[in-house]
Amino acid sequence: MTTQNLENYWMPFTANRQFKAKPRLVVGADGMYFKLEDGRQMLDGIAGLWCCNAGHNRPRIVEAIRQQAGELDYAPAFQMGHPKQFELAERLANLMPGDLNKIFFTNSGSESVETALKMAIAYHRVRGEGHRTRLIGREKGYHGVNFGGTSVGGMPANRKMFGSLVNGVDHIRHTHGVAGNTFSKGQPENGAELADDLIRLIELHDASTIAAVIVEPLAGSAGVLLPPKGYLERLRSICDQHGILLIFDEVITGFGRLGAPFATNFFGVEPDLVTTAKGLANGVIPMGAVFAQDKIYDAFMHGPDNMVEFFHGYTFSGNPMACAAAMGTLDTYEEEGLLTRAAELSDYWQDAVHSLRDLDHVIDLRNLGLIAGIELRPREGAPTARAFDAFLQAYDAGLLIRTTGDTIALSPPLIIEKEHIDFAFETLRKIIQSLD
Ligand SMILES: Cc1ncc(COP(=O)(O)O)c(C=O)c1O
Repeated sequence: MTTQNLENYWMPFTANRQFKAKPRLVVGADGMYFKLEDGRQMLDGIAGLWCCNAGHNRPRIVEAIRQQAGELDYAPAFQMGHPKQFELAERLANLMPGDLNKIFFTNSGSESVETALKMAIAYHRVRGEGHRTRLIGREKGYHGVNFGGTSVGGMPANRKMFGSLVNGVDHIRHTHGVAGNTFSKGQPENGAELADDLIRLIELHDASTIAAVIVEPLAGSAGVLLPPKGYLERLRSICDQHGILLIFDEVITGFGRLGAPFATNFFGVEPDLVTTAKGLANGVIPMGAVFAQDKIYDAFMHGPDNMVEFFHGYTFSGNPMACAAAMGTLDTYEEEGLLTRAAELSDYWQDAVHSLRDLDHVIDLRNLGLIAGIELRPREGAPTARAFDAFLQAYDAGLLIRTTGDTIALSPPLIIEKEHIDFAFETLRKIIQSLD
């Protein structure tokens, strides 16, 4: 147990008092495992935080960072560039289908979301449709923690402490809890018509006031909520009919999580903007990227040549170290076939997930690619407590899981082997059986 002073660090999204009373410190990581302070190993069931898709301590990435640090530490992000930004942008555009060829670098998922929302509003303005300012999110959505993302987000606990948030935002209904969808294997059959909720908001606000709709193709943070079959296609078509931009927040679905490079490839639905982060640089160095369709970029390329076209950007946009880490990450993904590996393992994974069906506390199981949601019946009068107990017990048993509400979420590194899957689900079975 640590003897360190833990009092000065205010930990994010953490029960600080509980943690500091009984700390859980990681001191190393390799492949599928974290090394804990007490010397134990812990299987990483959530790729760090849905970000270390290639696993930990990967040689290509370590080497890329090492080399970059000795060569070019920083290059000014505005009015200057460095070669790796352009090379990386080209490689990313090649991974993404369709017209999503213009890449804007950020440092996190939250910043990618803010960037995409601002791009959407500004895009309409530069085309003479400055009246399109309204942003539409979805209930139970998570789009990071900055003001725009919190506003279009739909998780009440993340919103309620922060006042009235950004004006001119509305939400379509979520797709969770539709009758007949429990224990679905892969995408659920029912609920595509929930996309028509967007029509309700168009009738209320008028399409001419709406800039964009943002959704996670698969919502992770609210507890692994899958899009019903046909739902995303329907959203796309309504947006098209009404001149509204569609933004996919792929911060967790990007970089191989579903068995294709992006959910955009996987579902075969092309949005106008895609937000990414996490797996882009394997979680090693903070980095995000927004993918914009060519038409969006082109709309800004007007006016005198010496004028800045889009008044937005970050000091660390396309930072050389982050670009090097992302390049090492893409090399690793490509050499090891990781961007499609989830597709190879998904049947085995699905069987493992649904093997928990007979357990008493389990009220729903959801899976797609290498993602699982295990929903537990909330303890009477103490919502979230049962899942949090599972988290603590899993930690003691050498398995890292994540919980949100009463749902356990799993999203392991894409290098996972079948024996790791067996260990994770055998451990979870014992834990869930033992919970009161
Ligand atoms: C869908 C989605 N968008 C945005 C974010 C925010 O990313 P970050 O924590 O890097 O700001 C997350 C983080 O989990 C996410 O899942």
